[in-house]
Amino acid sequence: MDHKELYSEYLSKVEKKIAETVHLDEPKQLYEPFKYIMTGGGKRIRPVLTMMACSAFGVDPYAALNSAVAIEIVHNFTLVHDDIMDQSPMRRGKQTVHTKWDEPVGILLGDVMVGWSYSLLPRSDEHTRADDIRACFTKGLIEVCEGQAYDMQYNEKKDITLVDYFTMIEKKTAKLLETCGVIGAHIAAANEHEVEIIRKFCYNLGIGFQIQDDLLDLVADQNKLGKKIGLDILEGKKTFLILTLKDRAKDPETLILLEEFFVNNGLPESKIKLISSMMRDHGVYEIAREKSNHFFEAARSELLKLDKSKDISMLLWLLETIRSRNY
Ligand code: IPE
Ligand code: IPE
Ligand code: MG
Ligand code: MG
Ligand code: MG
Repeated sequence: MDHKELYSEYLSKVEKKIAETVHLDEPKQLYEPFKYIMTGGGKRIRPVLTMMACSAFGVDPYAALNSAVAIEIVHNFTLVHDDIMDQSPMRRGKQTVHTKWDEPVGILLGDVMVGWSYSLLPRSDEHTRADDIRACFTKGLIEVCEGQAYDMQYNEKKDITLVDYFTMIEKKTAKLLETCGVIGAHIAAANEHEVEIIRKFCYNLGIGFQIQDDLLDLVADQNKLGKKIGLDILEGKKTFLILTLKDRAKDPETLILLEEFFVNNGLPESKIKLISSMMRDHGVYEIAREKSNHFFEAARSELLKLDKSKDISMLLWLLETIRSRNY
């Protein structure tokens, strides 16, 4: 079986487990949106990564399935709340939960999703590393919230730098990907050194992934992306793109528009095209591509440190698949 076929097989098991987990109907206010968010698409990068990390150490990837789905549930919970925070109308080509229902529904849904995610983690009578797995899971969840807090805090500040940006994305994005790799490796009883290599692999993958996410916000095809193009600009988000433009721009026209962005916390829809062309002219998109590639390369180098007996080919395949994504 080639990598793509194996990947589809993992995916179908993940979808099946998700369907089993979201089987309840009542109370409707809770379980309708739960089904809606969990079965309405998504690339499923996190559960697949968890299973692949487990498999790299020679253990059946399906041993990691429940934990993989637990992480996907937490991820979806962060998206529901992220869409409230970012006032996003669309996700995965559909209405966001708080748009289709309302904010209270989105908030309570997030709460219950955390509960369901924990219910899927192994207990100590089921896995010798259950305590490590739970501790890692909890840490990942806390760190995503901390990252999201920086994201909000930065909305109120005008002097955010790229250093601040990396602090934020390390927490809001890279940490949950680290959680995937580390839990997958724990399930396979990998040793400390191996767990650390996988952690660093996922860290770099996560940083590259968020820079790509920022880039796609402006350069993707909206239908493919399933999210509104340019929302980060409307919302005044301190993305890799805008901070890089700020570092590079010297001409008055760009400096005036940047000033407007930072003072007003975003730009009106009518100016998205203009800022986008300024980014292009200043080579910002190129720099973002190079930067994310730099982290993807770092991820690859980490993986190559594992002992030759480990089968890293699926993880390398996933890395390349993510690197070439356009949604
Ligand atoms: C979106 O994650 C949030 C970020 C951390 C950038 P994904 O791009 O993995 O979202 P889905 O699950 O595939 O929709
Ligand atoms: C996502 O950041 C980080 C999360 C923890 C959800 P974004 O706000 O950039 O995610 P999208 O672009 O809405 O998917
Ligand atoms: Mg956000
Ligand atoms: Mg968002
Ligand atoms: Mg984004």
